[in-house]
Amino acid sequence: MRRKMIAGNWKMNNNQAEASNFISSLETWLSSDQTGKKAVSAVSSGEIEIVLAPSFTSIGSAVAAKSTNLIQISAQNVHHKQSGAYTGEVSLPMLEDAGCKYVIIGHSERRHVFGEDFDLLEKKLIATLESRVLPIFCVGELLEERTSGNMKKVLSSQLDSAWNSLTSDVIGEMVVIAYEPVWAIGTGQTASDSDAEYACDFIRTLAYDKFGIAASDSLRILYGGSVKPENSASLLSQSNIDGLLIGGASLEVEQFERIITSAL
Ligand code: 13P
Repeated sequence: MRRKMIAGNWKMNNNQAEASNFISSLETWLSSDQTGKKAVSAVSSGEIEIVLAPSFTSIGSAVAAKSTNLIQISAQNVHHKQSGAYTGEVSLPMLEDAGCKYVIIGHSERRHVFGEDFDLLEKKLIATLESRVLPIFCVGELLEERTSGNMKKVLSSQLDSAWNSLTSDVIGEMVVIAYEPVWAIGTGQTASDSDAEYACDFIRTLAYDKFGIAASDSLRILYGGSVKPENSASLLSQSNIDGLLIGGASLEVEQFERIITSAL
């Protein structure tokens, strides 16, 4: 059984105090609320994983605010080199040092706003897999790519360029893929359950074709794009959706708790 991941991507939100208050409130809910306690046993038994991705400057406060290991911390980006003259960048050893378990790579905002291309994203993915940080690798099509019937072509090329040199055991055990259709991000226009499932099923088929049954069976695939407490349960009930990558709704602790609840 694949462990479900409920991951909040805070993007450029939540300063140090806000990050630390969020973590404390969430941990209080986990330890004192009836449903929160159910979440704790699901985390402890390996059924679900709760992840939050603060901005670089809030990672330290988020880590420091944790009094348990129930919440994992992710970064939102990384540079592929270990160290050196790369002004403004943050390395994998730095993320490890700061307490990150995961890093988001290839988010659509990195691809489309900051121009990160296939070649750079492949370097980031490979460097991450050589570190102790695990990648959450994002793919997804633009609206015009979907309407012109090119969704599958886009997903195949984003994945092929990134996982070309990887092996089956790495794909199955270390990589998390997030399917985030760009038209659904921050728009309130969630993909329908069947559209999200169709794309995630397609991604799993690509993994099967390239890496075989064991890897494709254990590969975790998340959906992201306007996830809310109102639509999270039905998205999570789809057989190829193993979790959610949540933007806006992860900024409100109560909404994030309701999304966790929907995964239990
Ligand atoms: P929204 O949930 O705000 O649409 O953002 C999704 C996202 O980009 C998560 O990485």
